Amino acid sequence: MLNDAVEFIKSKTENFIPEIGIILGSGLGELADEYCDIAIPYSEIPGFEASTISGHKSRLVFAQINGKNIVMMQGRFHFYEGHPIQKVVFPVKVMKKLGVKTLIVTNAAGGVNPEFKPADIMIITDHINHMGVNPLIGKNDDSMGERFPDMSEVYSQKYIKLAEKVGENLGIKLQKGVYMAFTGPSYETPAEVKMARILGADAVGMSTVPEAITARWAGIDVIGLSCICNSAAGVSTVGLSHADVIKAASDAKDKFKKLVKEIIKEI
Ligand code: HPA
Repeated sequence: MLNDAVEFIKSKTENFIPEIGIILGSGLGELADEYCDIAIPYSEIPGFEASTISGHKSRLVFAQINGKNIVMMQGRFHFYEGHPIQKVVFPVKVMKKLGVKTLIVTNAAGGVNPEFKPADIMIITDHINHMGVNPLIGKNDDSMGERFPDMSEVYSQKYIKLAEKVGENLGIKLQKGVYMAFTGPSYETPAEVKMARILGADAVGMSTVPEAITARWAGIDVIGLSCICNSAAGVSTVGLSHADVIKAASDAKDKFKKLVKEIIKEI
């Protein structure tokens, strides 16, 4: 299936070899509207599923941004949609086969760190996998990565520094912290958010970790960016809604796009 997907995509993109992959999270997909040379709907790609979530389009977009060849997922597959975890990370394996060396993985997240405000952007420094599942379970593809891959630096230190520098130069205040992944789709309870904080999390969300693990396994450098869309349950007294999450992502989208474009330039 992997080779079928890769061959199909190559037949549509000819000699375009993407060096950077970007997974665009909820409400952050606009970059792929702005820059789109070739778009392939997921429904056409062998092994891909359509995303069922509002705020997500479902297409793979190829474009040149700041002189770099980019492939963007405009919409991702979530575990909570009922996809097997291997389906969730399938596009990352496809990206690897297409030539991607660096993956920028983005998401909408809830702020656990009380310093964080809605529409803040957080550079992910590390993660806690609390999904109860690992995307590498199953037969290992030794041609892609090791059976027991090292996860001591999932998010490249070099690129964390680069993102910080880019933020400073653009005058965009960036937070840094640990992202903890829950399966969703229900938001966390205040007790779960308190647990996350005690365990060292700064933000909570329902994605990213499977893709980051898979990318690291496959030798891809990872940059993680969370858009803090709300204070997680119990951190503030306000209730949570998907509409508010999309609204905060929309408030952050201009600085988010600026940041990502400039990071691309510097990679
Ligand atoms: N929790 C989990 N996922 C999220 C949140 C949250 O508070 N906000 C946006 N995505």
